[in-house]
Amino acid sequence: MIPRAFIIGWPVAQSRSPLIHRTWLDELHIEGAYEHVALPPRELDVFLATFAERGFVGGNVTIPHKEKAFAACPVTTPTAARLQAVNTLWMEGGKLRGDNTDAAGFLASLDEDAPGWGKTLEKAAVLGAGGAARAVVYALLSRGARRIVVVNRTRARSEELRSRFGASIELVDPGDLASALAGSDLLVNATSLGMAGQPPLEIDLTPLPDHAIVADIVYVPLETALLAAARRRGLRTSGGLGMLLHQAAPGFAHWFGERPRVTAALRARIAADIEDKR
Ligand SMILES: NC(=O)c1ccc[n+]([C@@H]2O[C@H](COP(=O)([O-])OP(=O)(O)OC[C@H]3O[C@@H](n4cnc5c(N)ncnc54)[C@H](OP(=O)(O)O)[C@@H]3O)[C@@H](O)[C@H]2O)c1
Repeated sequence: MIPRAFIIGWPVAQSRSPLIHRTWLDELHIEGAYEHVALPPRELDVFLATFAERGFVGGNVTIPHKEKAFAACPVTTPTAARLQAVNTLWMEGGKLRGDNTDAAGFLASLDEDAPGWGKTLEKAAVLGAGGAARAVVYALLSRGARRIVVVNRTRARSEELRSRFGASIELVDPGDLASALAGSDLLVNATSLGMAGQPPLEIDLTPLPDHAIVADIVYVPLETALLAAARRRGLRTSGGLGMLLHQAAPGFAHWFGERPRVTAALRARIAADIEDKR
């Protein structure tokens, strides 16, 4: 039987993961499969307990299952334990294992798009305090960010983030955004604002210093209004597609035995699919 991997989510049809993994399977001439599994929350526990019997070797986890899947894993990586959420599952030694590759994906993407960005990182501003923002904050701390200012609509959520990561996190209300941007070496949008079908993200980038880098982890559209505004100001930018591609690679290696590469051809193929379906 060929190895089969899944992506579980609810909904999940919009996911680009199957296209990414099928492209790698083709490129590497590996006989394998990667399938969407639309899974309502009430079916998660049974699915996780039985997927191996159903012929799956593991898979990806997306909203809303990341936290519950973490809780179901007897073994997780230190990153997943810190984030209390998994996006990648596999079986090893008869046990379900979980990792969270969003943080590493974010860092790999930024390294690619803005080489050297981490060398001068004193202050970063992160918009959002959801699951993705948690991974971004963890990633920035792992690269030595001294101050991270989190700006989020719901205060309780940003407070939860600060209690998780401690003293280097400062909280700023959206009304004081200018103070968060002033002196920031890096701005990251980790909200869903600006994503197709969501309200726009409308912010004034004037307070950012001229050397600042602007990253947006939203990848539909590929060029968000935030990235376009940053480019107009002459700032370096990094979009969400790179994170999506890089977070996928470790799972592929677990399921299919070979570490795939994030190439320009893969990027172009997924970008074209995103453009076509808009
Ligand atoms: N590139 C990638 O590989 C990648 C990976 C993961 C996620 N993402 C993207 O990251 C984004 C966030 O994902 P997530 O998993 O963190 O989602 P989430 O846990 O639902 O968090 C959503 C965040 O957006 C904020 N938000 C939503 N609507 C808002 C509004 N109308 N006004 C102000 N703030 C609003 C939320 O603020 P409140 O706390 O106030 O609700 C929260 O901070 C999504 O666009 C997702 O596609 C990209």
